[in-house]
Amino acid sequence: MGRVGVLYGGRSAEREVSLMSGAGVHEALRSVGVDAHLFDTGTQSFAALEAAGFDRVFIALHGRYGEDGTIQGALEVLGIPYTGSGPAASAIAMDKIMTKRIWLQHGLPTPDFAILDAQTELRRVPDSLGLPLIIKPPHEGSTVGITKVRGYSDMKQAYEEAARFDSEVLAEQFITGRELTVALLGAGANARALPVIEIVAPDGNYDYEHKYFSDDTQYFCPADLPEAVEQEVRRISVEAYRALGCEGWGRADLMLDAEQRVWLLEMNTSPGMTGHSLVPKAAQAVGMSYPELCVAILSDASCKVRSPARNS
Ligand SMILES: Nc1ncnc2c1ncn2[C@@H]1O[C@H](COP(=O)(O)OP(=O)(O)O)[C@@H](O)[C@H]1O
Ligand SMILES: [Mg+2]
Repeated sequence: MGRVGVLYGGRSAEREVSLMSGAGVHEALRSVGVDAHLFDTGTQSFAALEAAGFDRVFIALHGRYGEDGTIQGALEVLGIPYTGSGPAASAIAMDKIMTKRIWLQHGLPTPDFAILDAQTELRRVPDSLGLPLIIKPPHEGSTVGITKVRGYSDMKQAYEEAARFDSEVLAEQFITGRELTVALLGAGANARALPVIEIVAPDGNYDYEHKYFSDDTQYFCPADLPEAVEQEVRRISVEAYRALGCEGWGRADLMLDAEQRVWLLEMNTSPGMTGHSLVPKAAQAVGMSYPELCVAILSDASCKVRSPARNS
């Protein structure tokens, strides 16, 4: 593997989570003899990254400048192989609105939505999407800026909360049901899903605190699903991943409603790798340890933008 950089920290709202992900990956890689070095893209310069002489990097960054195609583009320019999706797939997946457009075009199920901006007559939105509904900033992660709207009078505050992060925000039909997540590995025809995880939050409110710092949230992997549903959830997740052009690894978030219908919420192209994180849990269910998972992801590191001149 040569000299490996673990990119972590960064400048997004998810810096704190990324510091934990990176520390975990770094320790795991070192435990199996990989020459891994932490590199904080939030405090160290681009010039320092170039000077570090990494043969490949593990991207343990989340959110803006880490998961959104920008660092991926920089690594392409530097010619340093990196883990996960390329610039285009990363940028699309980072945008929940663009993601939903692509899924709809592929006939994949995702909740009905509306795009809101400062001109939108907010009171009309529940008339088309129904109540409850959910409002979120399309470019954030870790449940930042998300509000469940139960009545017309909540609309303004929910919109303003999300609009702190993005000028256009996403309003989505609320799906009542079970919360699932699916870890994905590989690319194209070789893309595959790990067993489905079900997330059960203590009060049904899966928020930022619960996701990363609470011991009360329960995770079930394998999930308690009929085999046919398990396979359907995995199939839709793999298709959703391929439709966006994702590579390396990722994680699809979904809901399963009372009629066992599957609804795609979002695709994470640089998922959490902390002690509480979900991709490591799914890997464990197929007997893959945390260090083995890190090595598997790192082995797939590559540059994804190919110059036609070079290939011909
Ligand atoms: N349309 C929806 N219906 C029901 N719950 C939702 C919906 N959208 C989001 N949620 C809840 O909010 C959480 C975070 O939403 P998600 O779209 O995954 O954004 P992110 O994880 O990037 O913050 C989900 O895991 C789910 O619990
Ligand atoms: Mg999510």
